[in-house]
Amino acid sequence: MEKAFYVTTPIYYVNDVPHIGTSYTTIAADVITRFMKFKGKPAHFLTGTDENGTKVMEAAREQGKTPLEFVDSIVPAFKQAWRDLHIEYSDFIRTTEERHIRAVQEFWRRLRSKGDIYKGLYEGWYCVACETYWREAEVPDGLCPNAECRRPVRRMQEETYFFRLSAYADKLLKYIEENPDFLQPDFRRNEVVSFIKQGLRDTCISRIGSGWGIPVPDDPTQVVYVWFDALINYISATGWPDEGELYQRLWPADIHFMAKDIFVRFHSTLWPCMLMALGVPLPRRIIAHGFWTVEGEKMSKSRGNAYQPMEVANALANASGCQVDVAVDALRYYLMREVPFGQDGDFSSAGLVSRFNSDLANDLGNLLNRALALADRYFQRTVPQPIGQTPLADAAKEAASAVEEALNSLAYSAALQAVWSLLSAANRYFNDQAPWRLYNEGRVEEAGSAVYAALESVRIAAALLWPFMPYVAGEIYKQLGISHAPNAQNWDQTVEWGGLRPGTVTQPSAPIFPRIEAKTLPLGLNRAREGDKKEKDTEVNLISIEEFQKLDLRTARIQQAERVPGTTKLLKLVVDIGQETRTVVAGIAEYYKPEELVGKTAVLVCNLTPTKIRGITSEGMILAAVEDNKVVLITTDDTVPPGTKVR
Ligand code: MSP
Repeated sequence: MEKAFYVTTPIYYVNDVPHIGTSYTTIAADVITRFMKFKGKPAHFLTGTDENGTKVMEAAREQGKTPLEFVDSIVPAFKQAWRDLHIEYSDFIRTTEERHIRAVQEFWRRLRSKGDIYKGLYEGWYCVACETYWREAEVPDGLCPNAECRRPVRRMQEETYFFRLSAYADKLLKYIEENPDFLQPDFRRNEVVSFIKQGLRDTCISRIGSGWGIPVPDDPTQVVYVWFDALINYISATGWPDEGELYQRLWPADIHFMAKDIFVRFHSTLWPCMLMALGVPLPRRIIAHGFWTVEGEKMSKSRGNAYQPMEVANALANASGCQVDVAVDALRYYLMREVPFGQDGDFSSAGLVSRFNSDLANDLGNLLNRALALADRYFQRTVPQPIGQTPLADAAKEAASAVEEALNSLAYSAALQAVWSLLSAANRYFNDQAPWRLYNEGRVEEAGSAVYAALESVRIAAALLWPFMPYVAGEIYKQLGISHAPNAQNWDQTVEWGGLRPGTVTQPSAPIFPRIEAKTLPLGLNRAREGDKKEKDTEVNLISIEEFQKLDLRTARIQQAERVPGTTKLLKLVVDIGQETRTVVAGIAEYYKPEELVGKTAVLVCNLTPTKIRGITSEGMILAAVEDNKVVLITTDDTVPPGTKVR
């Protein structure tokens, strides 16, 4: 049985829904898993949710739910978000599952029987947001020392269990020294080394039971500390403590992915020491990427800028007119391309639009469209026969090996740059050869050769892009007239020059990436921004009357209104727009009670692409005046019937 390439993401807290940050890690893991599979290597990709902590319990309480009801209501949003983002995980683990609880308790028992767990008195501070214990000296100002957090911490004095972390410090340092690839990138490994050298103290691994969490074996008064529990997910998903076929196939993990926030203390120190104490092999690589800000600001729920990925994809699709699945791939592309993996990045909608227009619409989409148009015009819509050699064959070969090398070292952005060198060479070649001119001069075979070279370059680029943009790659293949998926055959065969068969009947259809005219996307406008906010200069964004007339605005009488379960902000409305009724999800629950709305006549944008929000298809958007902490619906009186056009 071949060992599978086993990739993991952090298991995400369920007090939040997926946003750009968590999507980034999950996309990075997906890209590498797809690449490995394409290369013919069995790969296994685990993600999941962290459901046992204090903050989950408190979030449940805020919503008036039991913790279990609460976690059960959020988990589908994660699964849906990953499906929407074309993420193909192999397994999704929840820390409330039996397989996980069993592993955590067994882990505990084994460490305790070795003498690595003992009872003691914990006195210090606790940050609920980070679920982290802090020592007295680390909290001079009563605020969480984590720069990404800085929330007030709580004083704690409890009799709890401790893990003998200190006993493993030297062993871990030695391991890190002997295995330079273990912790990446290098500069972060150095942080870990200095953290360990400052001295590791035994760490608290349980809390007095609060009715939520995994019970400490043989001590029902305590629950296992959420980080001790959460880290074990990576091994509980392999079936451990059974060391059966799944465990043999998966463990040790090949890559644990995460951002820098949970790298040093938890994944690079606590987790390896726990495994050393257990006596099982350590994961091969633990990798930290950077943090994303949004338009220069820290991403946070209270700022209203922790965009959900589909919110961005839908806005992109609306602005371009492309399919939502194409927009999803464009977002995947942007995130992987924009910053070198490991560094911090800033998400900006102008940056996304610019990448969409210049890289995807121009360099990739346009080349495909132009070459297909010539095949259509001069070669009965078929792939023409090439003659002689083309320098693009070498460019394609170079690109393929550069992508492979880059992805083996997780240099996603460099891999994409390599694909774009091929596309630039192909665009240059196509323009220099000018097959339309050759054709008009009667040099039909040469014209055919140039068209072939362009189409084959795009095909190979699409195949190389498949791990990043699986849907788009498939669409390009379809337009080229290829009936199988880009990854149907193995990588080496697929990326070899000449795979596109002359005579293939092409299937040109609408451009995959229609250009976006706006400079930015209207993101987060429907959300009240709370907390500390900086005013942004309002951008002057003029539109023509024709553009305005594209909006189908109508009066809409609200017939029903109810809260969307599991949310504090959303209402589900059923509105009458004359000929039909529509269901709309509106973020106004904090400003209107459902019963206040019934009977009101509002204004609905009727021709917005429907979008799924919390599993409900929202067919339009209700207009409102939005200010900080204030949202007022735009309404009319009863003298206009529902469905009246608003201009
Ligand atoms: N539940 C723990 C992880 C336990 S793993 C055994 C947790 N959850 S989390 O929901 O807070 O997720 C943190 C992770 O989400 C980060 O390490 C990173 O992968 C991702 N990100 C969250 N915000 C991010 C950014 N702003 N930028 C980049 N990644 C971000 O910690």
